Amino acid sequence: ITKLRSHGLSPRRKFLLLGPPGTGKTMTASALAGELGLPLLVARMDGIITKYMGETSAKLRMIFEALKHNRGVYLFDEFDSIGTTRASGNDVGEMRRILNSFLQFMDEDNSESLILSATNHPGILDHALFRRFDDVIEYALPDKESRIRLLQNRLASYKKIEINWEKLADAASNISHADITRACDDAIKDMIIHDRNGITQKDILQMIRERKILDKKHYNQNKQGLTSPK
Ligand SMILES: Nc1ncnc2c1ncn2[C@@H]1O[C@H](COP(=O)(O)OP(=O)(O)O)[C@@H](O)[C@H]1O
Ligand SMILES: [Mg+2]
Repeated sequence: ITKLRSHGLSPRRKFLLLGPPGTGKTMTASALAGELGLPLLVARMDGIITKYMGETSAKLRMIFEALKHNRGVYLFDEFDSIGTTRASGNDVGEMRRILNSFLQFMDEDNSESLILSATNHPGILDHALFRRFDDVIEYALPDKESRIRLLQNRLASYKKIEINWEKLADAASNISHADITRACDDAIKDMIIHDRNGITQKDILQMIRERKILDKKHYNQNKQGLTSPK
C-alpha cells in the first residue's frame, strides 16, 4: 500500500459482491480475510437500518470510524436491505437518505481496510453506488460441471453406492452452491443416524428435492415481504 501511495495510486479496496444467495459471497469475504491475515468483520445492513435516520447514520459512522483505526476486511452484508427494509416504513426518500449517508462515508474513507458489500438484488442499486466501488464481482448459480464437482467433493470421504453424477447434477439444476452442499450434508447425517454404510443415489436425490421445496417456500415468502423501491 505504501508503495502504491508513493506513486499517487491507491490499491483497490472497495468491492461489490453481486449474486443470488448461497453462491459464495460471504465465503469470499472470509477467504480474503484469511489470505490477507486480517480480521473479518460483518455488519448486516438489516441490523443497522432502523426507523430513525439519525440512529442509522450514527451506526454507520461508528463502523466507518472502526474501519479507519482497525485494519480489516469489513463486509456489509444484506446490503439490499437499504432498498427493501420495512423498518424505514417503505419510504423511498428515507432509503435514499440512508444510501446517500452510506455513500458519503464510502467517499470519505481512505483507510487501509477492505470494504465489501454483498447483495442479491442488483435492481435496487443505482449507478451512483456502482461508481463508488473499485470492482464489481458477480456470482451465479453453479453450472453443471461445478455441480458435479461440488457433489463429488462434499461426498468424497464417504462410501457411495451406485451414484450417477450426471443425473444428480441435472436434478440439482437451479439451486445454489450452498443448497447442494447442504443436501449432501443432510444425506451424510441421515446415513450416520440410521447406521447405513453408504450413500445412495436415492438418498441424495431426496435431499436435493427437499432443498428445492424449501427454496420455493422462501422465495414466496420473500416475494410477499418485498417492497418495491420505486
Ligand atoms: N462457489 C462455491 N463453491 C463451493 N462452496 C460454496 C460456494 N458458494 C457457497 N458455497 C457453500 O455454501 C455456503 C454458504 O455460502 P455463502 O458464501 O454464505 O453464500 P452467500 O454469501 O453468497 O449467500 C458456504 O459456506 C459453502 O459451504
Ligand atoms: Mg452471505
